[in-house]
Amino acid sequence: MDKKYYEAYEERYKKVHQETGLAWAGEKPSQILEKLLKKYGANKNSSILEIGCGEGQNALNLMSKNYNLEASDISEEAIKWCKEKAKKLNLDERKFFVMDILKNKLTKKYDFIFSVAVLHMLVEDEDRNKFLSFIYHHLKNGGKAFITIMGDGVEQYKTDSSKAFELADRPFGDSIIKVATTSCRKVNWETFLSELKNANLRVLDHYIDRTVSGFDVSMVAEVEKDS
Ligand SMILES: C[S@@+](CC[C@H](N)C(=O)[O-])C[C@H]1O[C@@H](n2cnc3c(N)ncnc32)[C@H](O)[C@@H]1O
Repeated sequence: MDKKYYEAYEERYKKVHQETGLAWAGEKPSQILEKLLKKYGANKNSSILEIGCGEGQNALNLMSKNYNLEASDISEEAIKWCKEKAKKLNLDERKFFVMDILKNKLTKKYDFIFSVAVLHMLVEDEDRNKFLSFIYHHLKNGGKAFITIMGDGVEQYKTDSSKAFELADRPFGDSIIKVATTSCRKVNWETFLSELKNANLRVLDHYIDRTVSGFDVSMVAEVEKDS
């Protein structure tokens, strides 16, 4: 079966892991997530789901602080990496699982869902709407989601998704590595806010943040399920 463009990260992770033994995105978690969980009163019993967790730097950090978190990604390589890290840290590796959020559904609903740098990978409108619909359908009533995407709120562009698996040179530490190009769509605030509104996700706050690990500038939306 043909692979979808948004599966290209699998190839990037495999290449980087095999060639360097290091994580593509590094090990540094983004502090903003714990701040947001605290802001909205999360406690250790609150159920939390991360979608598109990649190599797990954020999920592992929150799990090690005893947050009740599950984390998923479409990439088998990423989840294998997360499970190995979890074992080394004496955390529950079963909390990590492979899932395509554009195709799969869970039976459970969550108090909190967050996603770091995933929505901007989704280039097609239909895929972006499915991503937001997944969040809507998996939040409890009044549940909150934190969505961060690459972008400055002004610039808009999208890459050609048919080229997502093509190899390109990318900086990695002090060197250059040839990895799958993947995909990217930047949107401005008007577009992002209208996508959230159409998905019945009520915006509680939105702003530019420069502390999300691995990204110079990110757009952050804190949203609530509008029942
Ligand atoms: C730019 S990476 C960000 C990873 C991680 N959140 C981080 O901050 O390092 C985007 C991630 O989204 C995942 N992804 C893309 N499409 C997905 C889908 N349909 N379902 C689940 N995960 C997906 C990719 O495999 C990749 O790990």
